[in-house]
Amino acid sequence: WIEPILALIFGYLLGSIPFGLLLTQLSGAGDLRAIGSGNIGATNVLRTGNKGIAALTLILDIAKGAVAVILAGLLSEGLGVLAGLGAFLGHLYPVWLRFNGGKGVATLLGVVTALSPLAGLVFAVTWLGSLAIWRYSSVGGMLAAVSVPVTAVVIGKIAWVPMFIGFALLVCWKHRGNIERLMAGEEPKVGAS
Ligand code: G3P
Repeated sequence: WIEPILALIFGYLLGSIPFGLLLTQLSGAGDLRAIGSGNIGATNVLRTGNKGIAALTLILDIAKGAVAVILAGLLSEGLGVLAGLGAFLGHLYPVWLRFNGGKGVATLLGVVTALSPLAGLVFAVTWLGSLAIWRYSSVGGMLAAVSVPVTAVVIGKIAWVPMFIGFALLVCWKHRGNIERLMAGEEPKVGAS
């Protein structure tokens, strides 16, 4: 019984590393939580004007989810899933930031891709496709998160569906401020500011 708990903790610790916050601080741009939306993700790092750091944040936030699943998954698929759950929750609710973390889109992409490359591909296409059409990162992220349980049903991974629905609901819950801004017509488009 100890292994599942260790997998969860391992994933949580990995997921709770706030790369966006750390890299922005290191670049000298200050506290990311005082910039733009205040979120610690790549979209908000981009608002500092530093594209390189934003890209690195995106890559590392994706990677931490994938690495958690892949490493714990070497022991068993179930442990990989638990580490992925831990990484996702760690990004959203990091103990280091008093549980005020990110919105989970990039880390979810990493977790999902490591569990099912096909579901990861659908996620990425949905995210980038909606970004290209509407230019709202939040809309792309939420639609991509919703695509995950749908893809899981299509590919017959029914056991994962409840967890993926939970992930999608959490991603939307974390975007509640964005949803309010979208409805008020105040959500900034990517590249706008
Ligand atoms: O992944 C986060 C993104 O969907 C929204 O970020 O900074 O616009 O709230 P932000």
